[in-house]
Amino acid sequence: MCITSILSSICIGGMSYWLQKQHVIAEAKVRSSILLDYINASSTFFEHSQKPLINALLVDNDKFYPELSNGFMVLREFANLFEKNNSGHSFHLASLNPLNDVNIANSNEKRIISNFRSQPALKKKDGFIKQNGELIYYTSSPITVKTSCLTCHSKPENAPRTQIMLYGTDNGYDWQAGETIAATFIYVSLQQSMQDAKNNAIKIFFISFACFLLTFLAIILL
Ligand code: HEC
Repeated sequence: MCITSILSSICIGGMSYWLQKQHVIAEAKVRSSILLDYINASSTFFEHSQKPLINALLVDNDKFYPELSNGFMVLREFANLFEKNNSGHSFHLASLNPLNDVNIANSNEKRIISNFRSQPALKKKDGFIKQNGELIYYTSSPITVKTSCLTCHSKPENAPRTQIMLYGTDNGYDWQAGETIAATFIYVSLQQSMQDAKNNAIKIFFISFACFLLTFLAIILL
């Protein structure tokens, strides 16, 4: 009787863990997809509506204010503020050859950017990674260089003087039009949700074990 109860409870607990894991993964996919769409929408609005106005209003072409002129920096700063109130969610604009060191791709990001470079039709990639022992779900989309980017990312001598003063001339140059040089990455940590799923499954195991025992006792005693 006791063995049957334990085996049945293990099945119920195991099944509950599996179902909760599926739910955690589905939830992470929805959240990261919404964040990526939001980031892409903000970027499009900045490039198409704000940047032309800013360029028209900034009279000195050699003066460069990254906070005003660079959509990627604006996104990064937004994302940093967002992360402060939403731990477990993060955004990284990762490049193989960045102007700003904080945008350098790590080994996992380099591998994914290489996939985008070798498969130009690939517009989105997602999956699971372990970072510092933490299970994370990622979604990424490639960034391809356009001719308009080359003013600042081809040769240092073509870039605004203020940009050179801020970022130097060592990295972030020699990009080619059509080349995929970077990708946006959204990370959603699964660590806490998976731990919660495990704890809930253990609770369900004990509850169902207690229910089985009570039922058997009731059958015997009545
Ligand atoms: C007016 C100059 C300018 C133009 C034009 C420009 N960028 Fe940049 N870009 C910058 C600067 C400056 C940064 C560093 C911003 C920061 O501090 O994160 C940057 C950063 C980036 C990054 C993050 C990696 C890095 O280098 O730090 C990517 C990716 C990027 N730019 C892609 C592009 C693309 C794609 C275009 C064209 C659609 C473009 N940029 C046009 C100046 C420019």
